[in-house]
Amino acid sequence: MSVPRQIGTETRGALGVIYLRNAPVNALGHALRTAISDAHTAFCADPDIKAIALVGLPKFFSAGADIREFATGRKPPLLTEVIAQIEAAPKPTLALIGGVCFGGGFELALACDIRLAAPNARFSFPEIRLGNIPGAGGTQKLPRLVGGPAALDIIVTAREVRAEEAAALGLCAEVLPDLEAALLRAEAMAAAGIERQPIGARAVPGDISEMDAAAETALGAARGALAVTRAVEGVRMAYDTPLEQGQAWERETFIELNASDQSRAQRHVFFAEREARKVPDLPRDTAPREITRAAVVGADSAGAGIAMCFARAGLPVVLIDTDAAQIERARARIAELWDQARDGGGIDGPTLAAQRARLELSTELHAAASADVVVAAGSEDMTQTQEIFSALDRICKPGAILVNNGATLDLDSIAQATTRPGDVIGMHFLHSDDAVPLLEVVRAARTAPEVVATVMALAPRLDKQPVLVGVCDGLVGNRMVRAFGREVQMLVEEGATPDQVDAALAGFGVDIGQQLRDACAGAQGQPPRAPLTEDEIRRRCLWQLVNTGCRLLEEGIALRASDIDVIFVHGYGFPRFRGGPMHHAEAVGLSKVLADIRHYQEMLGPRWAPAPLLERAVREGLSLDAAMTSEAVA
Ligand code: 3HC
Repeated sequence: MSVPRQIGTETRGALGVIYLRNAPVNALGHALRTAISDAHTAFCADPDIKAIALVGLPKFFSAGADIREFATGRKPPLLTEVIAQIEAAPKPTLALIGGVCFGGGFELALACDIRLAAPNARFSFPEIRLGNIPGAGGTQKLPRLVGGPAALDIIVTAREVRAEEAAALGLCAEVLPDLEAALLRAEAMAAAGIERQPIGARAVPGDISEMDAAAETALGAARGALAVTRAVEGVRMAYDTPLEQGQAWERETFIELNASDQSRAQRHVFFAEREARKVPDLPRDTAPREITRAAVVGADSAGAGIAMCFARAGLPVVLIDTDAAQIERARARIAELWDQARDGGGIDGPTLAAQRARLELSTELHAAASADVVVAAGSEDMTQTQEIFSALDRICKPGAILVNNGATLDLDSIAQATTRPGDVIGMHFLHSDDAVPLLEVVRAARTAPEVVATVMALAPRLDKQPVLVGVCDGLVGNRMVRAFGREVQMLVEEGATPDQVDAALAGFGVDIGQQLRDACAGAQGQPPRAPLTEDEIRRRCLWQLVNTGCRLLEEGIALRASDIDVIFVHGYGFPRFRGGPMHHAEAVGLSKVLADIRHYQEMLGPRWAPAPLLERAVREGLSLDAAMTSEAVA
């Protein structure tokens, strides 16, 4: 079988160039690793070549290891072997980095003697988000390069380090205008001769005691995530352990964590997030509409938050409220939030000025006339909302997308108030403070395919994770949370203390939230029928979520079980390392979950009637998604 050629090579003077070309993201799968290794060996054998450069795609140096291989096992040459080959080679290697330089891609770059970056370079270790630590030298080499506290911060937060900061930290030697300029510089360096500069030969700068505060911060935010504990151990080890020994520990730990439930769950979330962006029944040639201007109607805190979100995304936006006093309150509130963000270091002066310039306020609904997308925010009253939509229908330009932001009103009825129901869609921004990354996109019966495609494409521009859902009261998230909240209250009425419920769920990584805590505080406790264990509390809360989720799947409100997981991880603080409620149920075993639910039905009555989808999945030995398809086929 021929190996697909995922690289290109070129000789530029004394420089041998290896172009990594594994679109879309240069994941370091088996074929690419083999090709890099072979080309590197060939250049090393060429007496005219003095140095070798690895060059990625313009936007992707490399997104790291191929995550799909984690479940199937990797074939040699492993990434660690390619890295060892580069480090042991008789000639220096340079990494020329444009765009994403993540995970194993970052480690490949750290194996090189010199890193040159283009201005769009982004360095990150996202492994923690996959329930793991960097596994090809990252925990040992990054501290040697940037110091322990800075390395730990980069590893446990998975944050991106942009080119300018990377240069300041010493992650790259230079930032050049583009990859071609970097190639020219590398060519000149190769001609002049390059001194070997292996990171592994360095000691971690500073003293290990500097790690105490950084470790405390990291562990404090870990909420039970195993990988964070291991990352702290690894970075500490870099101070006083020889590189080879540290790397051997890192490798073993990577393999151990990769096999853990937490890592499996986080890999599930990674692919679930990407799947959620895809709409299976949209015709392939559906083109999104262009969105260059937005309007938000309703200047309460939700409306103001949404308008700020558009402004942050670079879209000019007008925030409209016919109540002049409300507009003035919104103006003051927005100014205060922006000032807080600037004072807290969350935004710099020029960025803030640009955002301010993009946001206008108006008391005239006509100000929405030129917008490509108009979001009606704030009203949970059907008559009032229909009036707003009917007015927008008259005012807005043809092709404008009319959006309702809410989770309770029937979107089909709202669409009926217009002459263009195909242009009506829902965008449920969860909180007015704009901090929640989830966006439930609500498709009504007559929403046009290109309107769905436009809003699904708009969401990432707004820094939101979209999940397409159907019309029902509460949509997916709030409807499930209601079932969860009812169960919490029942538990309290049966004698559990709010603190006990809180502790049982916090032990699992779920924060029940102030609203539920307040609701618990008002409930009347009775003597418990039997002592309620933490395990029972947890199961009852979680299985209510899962049973309700199964009903939402049956009703077609949620498209996939994994979409529900994305909603809970991104919108409701469900820990990523649990993979979301539906993944957790499948990991525990659907038959066990069903047995519990039947037991609670006998004990506690009809609110525990099992969802037919769950029963069918167990009867046929299928996953929830497969059970949905099997029904569709039947
Ligand atoms: N492995 C396998 N597939 C990957 C991948 C990876 N590392 N990174 C991205 N992909 C796939 C996605 O699944 C998607 O596939 P699809 O089109 O079939 O759904 C496609 O590439 C495009 O990805 P996105 O839709 O996410 O594209 P974006 O442009 O929005 O984002 C990205 C690109 C920022 C690179 C983002 O994909 C990302 O963060 N990827 C994960 C990177 C990561 O976690 N790297 C670490 C891997 S673990 C590792 O390296 C271990 C090492 O320490 C040994």
